[in-house]
Amino acid sequence: MKVQVCIIGGGPSGLLLSQLLHLQGINTIVLERHTRDHVLGRIRAGVLEHGFATLMREAQCGERMDREGEIHHGFLIAHDGGRLDRVDLRKHSGGNSVMVYGQTELTRDLYEGRERSGAKTVFEAEDVAPRDLTSDRPYVTYRQKDEPFRIDCEFVVGADGFHGVSRRSIPKSELREYERVYPFGWLGVLSRTQPVSPELIYVSHERGFALCSLRSKVLSRYYIQVPLAYRVDDWSDEAFWEELVRRLPEDVAARLITGPSIEKSIAPLRSFVAEPMRHGRLFLAGDAAHIVPPTGAKGLNTAGSDIYYLYHAILAHYRRGDDAGLEDYSRRALARVWKAQRFSWWMTTMLHRFPANSPYEDRLQATELAYLFSSETALGSLAANYVGLPF
Ligand code: FAD
Ligand code: PHB
Repeated sequence: MKVQVCIIGGGPSGLLLSQLLHLQGINTIVLERHTRDHVLGRIRAGVLEHGFATLMREAQCGERMDREGEIHHGFLIAHDGGRLDRVDLRKHSGGNSVMVYGQTELTRDLYEGRERSGAKTVFEAEDVAPRDLTSDRPYVTYRQKDEPFRIDCEFVVGADGFHGVSRRSIPKSELREYERVYPFGWLGVLSRTQPVSPELIYVSHERGFALCSLRSKVLSRYYIQVPLAYRVDDWSDEAFWEELVRRLPEDVAARLITGPSIEKSIAPLRSFVAEPMRHGRLFLAGDAAHIVPPTGAKGLNTAGSDIYYLYHAILAHYRRGDDAGLEDYSRRALARVWKAQRFSWWMTTMLHRFPANSPYEDRLQATELAYLFSSETALGSLAANYVGLPF
């Protein structure tokens, strides 16, 4: 089979790019290792920047997001023994806001959009291998139910997440990797309960970080910072709710409605960047090239800016024979990626408990929050980054 662009990975990055290109008449295929149900079973991001939401509309997949998603003009930070301060995103970012809409729903919308427009996705593609990437005729091989397949293409896009095959097919000598692994993870619970607050609450507490988030008026998402030694089975629902309650300000804890978990998982926290994001005719996008700890809600959104740059670069190539965007893709994408890295590292460092911190570092951390809420400039910087820096 021959296509113009072969996309490895059917997560939000791969689906969004494929859908945008498909609508422009550019022939693509998406190769996904898992089943559609497996991909839709992963509960991840919840906060979308304005720029990401715009791309969903451009992909003609934004209708349900606009109907069911919630626009949030601010969020809260609990700190200093239960004090609750609000970050007014609209005021401090000059009128911007974010959209609360789950990654699961967004991925479902992209799959449905693709089905409507007849775009091709292969599920359960095994042993996917990109080949001859530095030649003019790259190709990708895979197996499905023991039958071998080959896709000839002009470009390969590696949108197969952190554990995918694409980044690993770049020779080690040509890739530089930067990494920080945090000594804790987030234990997340999804429950069919009314959210404790209409706006997100990020909690800095001496027992550890917590986050109260939501997916809708009847679906809540909560997280607590946990040491890496714990496994998800070590946490009963009761133990989770008890620990969450301990970390919330008293009046918030008193309002919390608990219930059985529909999903419970632990996500380790990691910062990671691979440079460059291109090798010959292979272009990396999203988690395949970079990971952030989720504290700044930047992972999916940074994948969105990669897709924006790559989409326009591929379009310029096919429409005008102009390759400047492709040549500049890695540099442009990485410039924004590193800003998201900085912001996510800053949010994580400010709000989590670091077991190895000295008393001096603990005081600096408390002062960071005290300074934030005493400075319009600091709030402006937080708000600008949270709603999303320009593409
Ligand atoms: P993935 O979603 O990882 O998709 C990659 C796809 O490739 C997968 O479907 C996988 O099955 C497939 N694949 C892998 N290997 C292969 C292979 N060899 N062959 C074929 N297919 C393969 N981001 C935000 O912006 N806002 C948030 O609020 C936010 N909250 C988060 C909360 C948590 C708890 C976590 C864990 C993450 C959060 N993120 C958030 C990050 C966000 O979920 C990711 O950045 C996003 O999923 C990246 O999308 P992607 O398509 O690049 O990669
Ligand atoms: C979520 O709702 O899953 C979520 C929200 C904000 C974050 C991270 C995760 O910063």
